[in-house]
Amino acid sequence: MAGQIPQRFIDDLLARVDVVEVVGERVQLKKAGRNHSGLCPFHQEKTPSFTVSADKQFYHCFGCGAHGNALRFLMEYDKLRFPEAVEQLASRLGMEVPREGADDPRAQARERKRKEGVNLLELSAAFFRERLKMPEAGAAREYLARRGLSPEVQQAFGIGYAPDGWEALKRHLDERGIPGAVQVEYGLLVHREESGRTYDRFRDRVMFPIRDLKGRTIAFGGRVLGDAKPKYLNSPETPVFHKGRELYGLFEARQAESRLERLVIVEGYMDVVALAQFGIRNAVATLGTSTSEEHLSRLFRLVGEVVFCFDGDRAGRQAAARALETVLPLMIDGRQARFLFLPEGEDPDTLVRREGPEAFQDRITCASPLSEFLFDQAAAGRDLARMEDRERYASQVLAALGRLPEGVLKSLMLSELSRRTGVDQSSFESLLARSAPGSASAPAEASGGGDEPDVPENAVSPPGGGGRRGAGSGSLSLVARMLQLLVHEPSLIERVPEGDDWCPADDSDGVLCREVIRLLRAGRYRSAQVLLAHFHGSHEGERLAALAGRELLIPRSARGAELDGLIEHFRRHQRRRSPREEIDALLAREKAGERLSREERQRLMALLTELHG
Ligand code: UTP
Ligand code: MN
Repeated sequence: MAGQIPQRFIDDLLARVDVVEVVGERVQLKKAGRNHSGLCPFHQEKTPSFTVSADKQFYHCFGCGAHGNALRFLMEYDKLRFPEAVEQLASRLGMEVPREGADDPRAQARERKRKEGVNLLELSAAFFRERLKMPEAGAAREYLARRGLSPEVQQAFGIGYAPDGWEALKRHLDERGIPGAVQVEYGLLVHREESGRTYDRFRDRVMFPIRDLKGRTIAFGGRVLGDAKPKYLNSPETPVFHKGRELYGLFEARQAESRLERLVIVEGYMDVVALAQFGIRNAVATLGTSTSEEHLSRLFRLVGEVVFCFDGDRAGRQAAARALETVLPLMIDGRQARFLFLPEGEDPDTLVRREGPEAFQDRITCASPLSEFLFDQAAAGRDLARMEDRERYASQVLAALGRLPEGVLKSLMLSELSRRTGVDQSSFESLLARSAPGSASAPAEASGGGDEPDVPENAVSPPGGGGRRGAGSGSLSLVARMLQLLVHEPSLIERVPEGDDWCPADDSDGVLCREVIRLLRAGRYRSAQVLLAHFHGSHEGERLAALAGRELLIPRSARGAELDGLIEHFRRHQRRRSPREEIDALLAREKAGERLSREERQRLMALLTELHG
């Protein structure tokens, strides 16, 4: 039974293994000075920016920021989990991996549960596939045929059928000794509190297994054969399935094409499968959620180009605007994002059937690059012959550029903006620099004319009218600016990431800011008035009222970006710890399976170089 691997052993292992050798077995490396270099296996590139250092026992890619030690490389490249990577390294050195606390009953229980889950989902997938072949599945087979899916494609996607009746799967799993509670936990059975009864979640549905990158089934989506509601039923969140993270079809896309360069993000299961039916095997779908940053950073680890595919209607436009916001911070040089809008009333499934795969491929090839979409979107509904409209146009584009990582794309877009508005590029650059949090001067007053009066709808008159003076007329600290944003526009809380340890709490504004975040999250304080009422009569109340009374010079459209920028800044500057502590903290997060941001990875690299270099 697997227990924890002792840290001593991991250190020892890393001391013996050579990262150049491990990487060199998978990537062609050339000696270049003290280091080795080659084409980065984690992003698409034509000239090598991937280096491996024998001295430091680290690899680092200057293109995409990927870096780490031999273990990390195996985890990323071979898609192994941490203990599996340790096993693999150990076995090449003929070392036995010791386990701590293997007899710890809790560790044992955890491990048993994990195995149970995986096993149970595979058993269920096999059950559904078998059932699709049986006489009872006649209607389901007909349905799939009517939708044009060949047996080969059905097989590639492991499509099955959940029989009608309440206990078909339950009985099957019971017979194999899987406890009922586990079946409920993994979303296969529904448990009714009132009656205490359990029954199959999926009944009389065509079943799509959702698989992880290694092809293990982690959840299901089931479609009704007719028009009943809900059309699709998905597994709930379980210990192995998190909707906001997974993409349907990713495993199958990788199976079909090992050197993927581009992935197309569509909306539905059927879109993925129908495209595959027509030979377009690089589509993936989110699972009824909008595309998250996590989805995208996952995709960009595998390919250099992502194409978003949207319906041509209003909802599609809105979804595209959200996708643009999400993808901007990830657009380091070398990555591409494009936007494809389908004709109204079509989805990829209907369209590829109607026009055939070549026409659909052409649409993909001609999809708008991010830059074009961004400019078009900012221009929409504006008359650029009017100066005021041009100003708003420029502000909107600038707000987006503020979210782009530094690089060639950003520079190109700035010069394009200057060409389109006739404003000197250097003016835009200084506006951008000024609006970047962390710069000493005031935030994005860039908008000049502003979209609207600077006092929000829910503006609060400061008690006694003294507010404006109370907040001080000088410049606000960054934390105060964060507070000011939140008190002017509480709905910005939606954008604030989980937790609050990024928020400095070494002064009273910081402590208050954390408290405000907590209250806003709790959801009962969605207007500035209610928030102020909560603190009324206290010191904090005065401070908040003063900030509420102080003009917010940032146009509404740029406030979200300002907030994101502040948070990003806090995250970067939070550390006043010793390099050793900081390294440990970062490595610990990495080890726990968390993905560090690009800045954090670079920071880690720099710290390690400092320490060992
Ligand atoms: P669509 O309704 O666009 O699905 O929902 P579709 O793929 O075109 O379905 P067909 O062609 O009628 O079979 C898109 C996605 O939204 C989620 C599913 O992930 C679906 O693929 N969805 C939709 C649900 O989760 N539940 C629903 O009831 C409907
Ligand atoms: Mn459809």
